[in-house]
Order: sequence, then structure tokens, then C-alpha cells
Amino acid sequence: MEKEKRRIVVTSALPYANGNIHIGHLVEYIQTDIWARYQRLAGNECVYVCAADTHGTPVMIRARQEGTTPEELVEKMRAEHLRDFTGFQIAFDNYYTTNSPENKALSERFYAAMESAGAVSEKSSPQLWCEHCKMSLPDRFVKGTCPKCGAPGQYGDSCDKCGSTYGAEELGDPHCTTCGGVPTVREASQLYFELEPWHGYLEKWLPGHVAGDVANKLLEWFGEPLRGWCISRDAPYFGFEIPGHAGKFFYVWVDAPIGYIASLENWCAKNGRRLADYWPADGAEKTAEIYHFIGKDIIRFHCMFWPAMLKAAGFQGPEKVFVHGFLTVNGEKMSKSKGTFVSARTYLDHLPPEALRFYYAAKTGGTTDDMDLNLADFVQRVNSDLVGKITNIASRCAQMLHKRLGGTLGALDGEARALLDECRAAAPRIAGFYEDRRFNLAIVEICRLADVANAYFDKRAPWQTVKTDAETTRTTLTAALNAFRIIAIYLKPVLPAYADKAMALFGESEWTWRSIETSLEGCALGPYEYLASRIEMKQVDEMIAAALVKPGETGEVSHESRPGKAKREDAAAAPAAPLKSEITFPDFDKLDLRIGVVESCETVPKSSKLLKFVLDAGTLGRRTIFSGIRAAYPDPSVLVGREVVFVANLAPRKMSVGVSEGMILYAGEPGKSGGALSPTSEAGAGAQAT
Ligand code: 2FM
Ligand code: ZN
Repeated sequence: MEKEKRRIVVTSALPYANGNIHIGHLVEYIQTDIWARYQRLAGNECVYVCAADTHGTPVMIRARQEGTTPEELVEKMRAEHLRDFTGFQIAFDNYYTTNSPENKALSERFYAAMESAGAVSEKSSPQLWCEHCKMSLPDRFVKGTCPKCGAPGQYGDSCDKCGSTYGAEELGDPHCTTCGGVPTVREASQLYFELEPWHGYLEKWLPGHVAGDVANKLLEWFGEPLRGWCISRDAPYFGFEIPGHAGKFFYVWVDAPIGYIASLENWCAKNGRRLADYWPADGAEKTAEIYHFIGKDIIRFHCMFWPAMLKAAGFQGPEKVFVHGFLTVNGEKMSKSKGTFVSARTYLDHLPPEALRFYYAAKTGGTTDDMDLNLADFVQRVNSDLVGKITNIASRCAQMLHKRLGGTLGALDGEARALLDECRAAAPRIAGFYEDRRFNLAIVEICRLADVANAYFDKRAPWQTVKTDAETTRTTLTAALNAFRIIAIYLKPVLPAYADKAMALFGESEWTWRSIETSLEGCALGPYEYLASRIEMKQVDEMIAAALVKPGETGEVSHESRPGKAKREDAAAAPAAPLKSEITFPDFDKLDLRIGVVESCETVPKSSKLLKFVLDAGTLGRRTIFSGIRAAYPDPSVLVGREVVFVANLAPRKMSVGVSEGMILYAGEPGKSGGALSPTSEAGAGAQAT
């Protein structure tokens, strides 16, 4: 009996428009894409929508810094996102923007519904205001001393050292990370979306719609009244103004998830569909199932606020929110100074997208566990499984069939049919693994089938039989190629372009999950086009090197989590400092200038001048250098990830704060404007001296 065709709407979290896509993001987009492609292959209707998440302070600040408008910036970034996603064969049905008319109208509709449900309240709270930047400072745009443990350089929401959380106004010695200025505290009234009215609803909703561990964690909060959520921000803010509250804007996290519906609505309009059929109203017939894929850092937004907002606005809630873990590389957090913070573009400049899709699939277990991209294992798995085991079947058989037997498939015998039966018998298991997002198990099963096909090939030894018995050989190759065909169909969600090429080899134009039921006999094979080739550790090393030499790359900036570049003081009005006496070339030649990447850069307690640098100096190892250039960097963390030029052969110097192992080169007048010399900055001429 035909299974009923499901209508599925699937989303991935909307990536921020203030950064580029990187391999950490791709854990989610690749997994969502595999799942959506599986659904389509299985005969379901599946619409995959996404958008660039455009609003908020970081975009506004970056646009200011780049001398452009937020609108232009987000459009440029959206195009870059789409280019990179397409490079990884992520097939959105719509990749829209949250800065759209649909999203504005929907956000206003949500807000009106939330208000009329009596769930919006106004409360006054202390906020930090930077007079220089003329804006209120979000938590991640202010740093100061932790009010609990006294650690310096902590953000306005929590302390990295002691883990405590607090309000930004509690920080000691606060400073704006954009301009270095000292903010003032202002009382301002903000709008809150109250969650308590949905206490009972959410408590019942959670267990059926998220994994057990996620539900249990969230349910821990339900013993007391649920706290409201601040949904407004003061101008200047890049976003949608709140109706009836001039100068107040929806916090980016309000209109971001609404952006899922806006993107879908835009897709519906372009495709002659009704939104209500794809995102049904609450209480209406469930004409579509909605699934969100998200990372574990944004659970609260998607599993508490969002279902409550949907309920308030009269939309159906998601069927399931699928939560995945983070990416580690070689067992560690992605790191700019180690070159493991790799942008999608840098990856694609060095390696094929199939390799990462295959590897991520092989490591996706459908849980919140983190996923490790072990680079040596990556190369090994791709080469041994995808190339050596799977692709090899097609390349050996197709090439032999073309070269020795005229390129025509023959007839299957009993042994061949047994092989194909075994391949087909795995279909329900593999389908189940795809449905449950246990792609790792699907890959294990697919590799097992490739082992079976290779064992059949080896046992039948066609390279020998071809000398004496063409038709037996043809049967062997026909069986192995049919086995490969079934395997390639199973792999289609993971490797769509690969599967398309395999399909062309068999002269077919469309594969569905049920295509595995057919066997190809007696027909001509298409020309063999390369499907996948080995990857080399050298390519990986070059990719890491390329990621390492791109400090300050915008793709690495996380939302509201990284300060902008410190602005230098204006030196124009300052009196010129006299030049030191002339030196000769031999004096200069004594300096051994090297480049180091700033791993960390911190202020030094009790010193108003010093910064403590830890440099990754390549073959020289790690160097700790104390440098008296604090005045130029109100927020020294802007230097992290940057390359600087330093004198590597300066004798170590014992200082009261520690031993300094070199000297960072700095151009400018002492104590005035200037900056550390960086070979990749406009001040980079100094690097040519090396
Ligand atoms: O965490 C993030 O990257 C957000 N931009 C995700 C938004 S998802 C949804 F709510 F729009
Ligand atoms: Zn400021």
C-alpha cells in the first residue's frame, strides 16, 4: 500500500548576517539538508526555508564601521551566505531575510496578539548607555570587572573566570567595547513578554516535542513562575519599530523565529501556495508538520519563548525541535589562532564539499552530543569509505565494462540477485536511520553493503574471468554495478551531486527511494565520470594555514559576542614627538623580526600601560610579551587572532609582572595614537623587514 505523502516544513536556525558561514554552522545546515533531501527522496513534500538573521546591534555597528547602511550590509552578507550554502549543496527552497515586509507585518501581528492576550508588560530596569556611541550597550558590548570575583575584562552578562551571571550595570570599571568609553547607568523602561500565562501549556507541550534530555532540563524551571522576557531595545537599533512605542524596537530574537514563517510566506507567494496550508493555524487541521533544527545554545528561544509566541499568535507549534551539539575540531573548540575556525569559503577553496557532507553524516547521531571533526580521521574516513569502498565499485566495474565488454550490462544470475536482495533488505533500516537523524548508522549500513559488494566482486574475480568468459564477467559487473546503484540511491540525501552523476552513469533522470526496486539489465552504461577522488592531508594543512592567516575575518564574529575594533584616539592635534637619533643598517639588521598570531591579549592588573600578549610564534613556539601599548587598545581582545610583528631575538627581560620574551612592534608616537604592526593591516610595511 502506498504510504500517505506528508507535507513537511523544515528550518535551520537563521544565521546572523554579521558574519560568514563557517564549518561549525555547517553541522546544522548539512544535517537539515540531508534530512530534507531524504524526505523528498522518500516521496514526501518537504519545504526547507531559512533566512539571514539581520537585525540587532552588531550589524548596526559593523555597517557604521564599514561606512555602509545596515540594509546594504545584510543584503551583501545574505548573498555570501547563499553562495557558500550552494557550494555545500544545501538546497533551501527559500533563503530569505528577516528584514522583509512579510516579517515586519508578521512581527507586528505577533506583538498585537501577545499584547491582547495580556502577556506584554512594561518594566523599568537599569541599562548602560555609551554617550560616545550614542547607544545602549548590549551585554556583549561592555566589559569590566566581575562583581563577584573581581576578574577584569568580563562581559556584561557573565564571568568567564567564576561563571557567575549578573547585570551589566553591576560590572566594575565598565567600558564600551566599541569605543573604550565609560558608559553611564540609565533607568529605562522596556517591554516584556510574560511567559507565565503559558506555564501549563509549555509544561505539557515540551515532553512530546523535544528530546527527553532537553525537555527534562527545561522542565526544571517549571517549579516556580516562569520569568518574563525583555523583547524591546532602544533606538538606535537596526530592526522593526514596535507599534505604539516610538523609539523602541523588537529585540532581534523576537523577529528572528518569526522570520521562519516570513520566509515560508514569501515562498508560498512565489509558488502559488497558501501559507495556512504550510503553517496551519492553531486548532486547524494539521496540513503540515513543522520541524526546527537548532543548536543547543538556542534551546530556550525555540522551546520556551517561540512555542508560547506561536500559541499567542494562533499558529500551530512545531512538531519537533531537533537539537544538535557543537562542533569541535581535533577535540577542541574551533580556534582562530590554531586555524581551525574555517569559513565555508576557505574550506571550499581547498576541499570538495562531498567530503565534509560525508564525514558530518558519518558523525551525526541525532543527539545533543558535540561532534568532533578530527582532521586525520576525516581524511582517512573519506578515502577509505567513500572513495576506497563505495566509489571504487563503480569505477572498477564501469571502466572494465567499457574497456573490455563494450559498455553494455548483462543479465543477473542467482548469486547476483542474492547480492541485490541483501542490498534492498537494508532499505527500511536505512530509511529509519534517516528519519531519526541517526545518519551515522545509515552510513555504517551503507558501508556494510559496499563491503558485501566488494567481497562479491573479489570472489568472482572478473579481472581473471574476463580473459576467458566475457558473459560471466558481464554478469559480475552488472551485479556489482546494480549494487552500487542501490548504494548511491541510499547516499543521495548525503551526496546529492555525487548521486546525480551516478544516475547519469546509469542513463536515468530521476531517482526516488523506490528506484532501488528496479534492476538494470541489458542496457548501455553511460560514460564513467569521476565521482569522488581521494583527499590529501596536504589539502587540509593548506586549508588550516589559510584559515590561520585571515585574522579579523568577519565570518568568525558571533552575534553580540564580539566587540568591534577599538577606535584609536585622534592624534592630529597632539604635538609631534622628536625623532630618536639615526641608526645604521647594521643596527637595524641585528633585529630578527618575526610574525606571531595573538592567542590572547589582556590588561595587566595594576598597570595602566602594559598589555600581556601570548603569541603563537609558529616554529618558535609560544611567546609571552609584555608591551606598553595599552593606551592604544582600550579593549585588547580586538587583537586576538591578529598577526603582529615582533622582535624575536631580544633578550628575555624580567619584569615585575613576569618575563617578557620579545618586543611587539608598534608604530606611532609613544603613548599616543598608533597600533601594533600587522602584516595584514594597512600598517603592514614593517613586515617587509623580515
Ligand atoms: O544563534 C543564532 O545564530 C541566531 N541567529 C539564530 C536565530 S534562529 C531563529 F530564531 F531565527
Ligand atoms: Zn562606545
